[in-house]
Amino acid sequence: MRILLANDHGALELKRRISAHLKSRGHEIVDLGVNTEESVDYPDKGAEAAREYLKGGYDLGIVLCGTGIGISIAANKHKGIRCALVHDLFTAEMARAHNDANFLAFGGRVDYPVPVERILDKFLETKYEGGRHARRVGKLDALG
Ligand code: RB5
Repeated sequence: MRILLANDHGALELKRRISAHLKSRGHEIVDLGVNTEESVDYPDKGAEAAREYLKGGYDLGIVLCGTGIGISIAANKHKGIRCALVHDLFTAEMARAHNDANFLAFGGRVDYPVPVERILDKFLETKYEGGRHARRVGKLDALG
């Protein structure tokens, strides 16, 4: 998969971990995030990631800030982006199976119940169920 990453200064270490994990599984990473602790504004990074993704050629976007909240809100302001702020294995599974999320958000300052790599793997190994969910996802995409 070709996966877009973006982060603010609140998720440097998490970005590095996720990037290394995905590369080790053979995914191609395009990294739009920052690599220093100099403060940047998460709405700018979320918007940059969303605009780049919408140009096409990407399978998934992953956006990271201190909590994952602000940058997920920014990404979701863009029509066609379905960014899921997942926090455990169950929400990762549902984000794929029911919401067909095309973006995931995590927080670099959040304590997750299991490592983020496992949460991410759960999302990647889950299939979108379609069916009744397709109608709902279609309604999501019609908003905004
Ligand atoms: C930056 O300090 C912090 O506000 C940001 O990373 C994020 O947590 C916002 O939602």
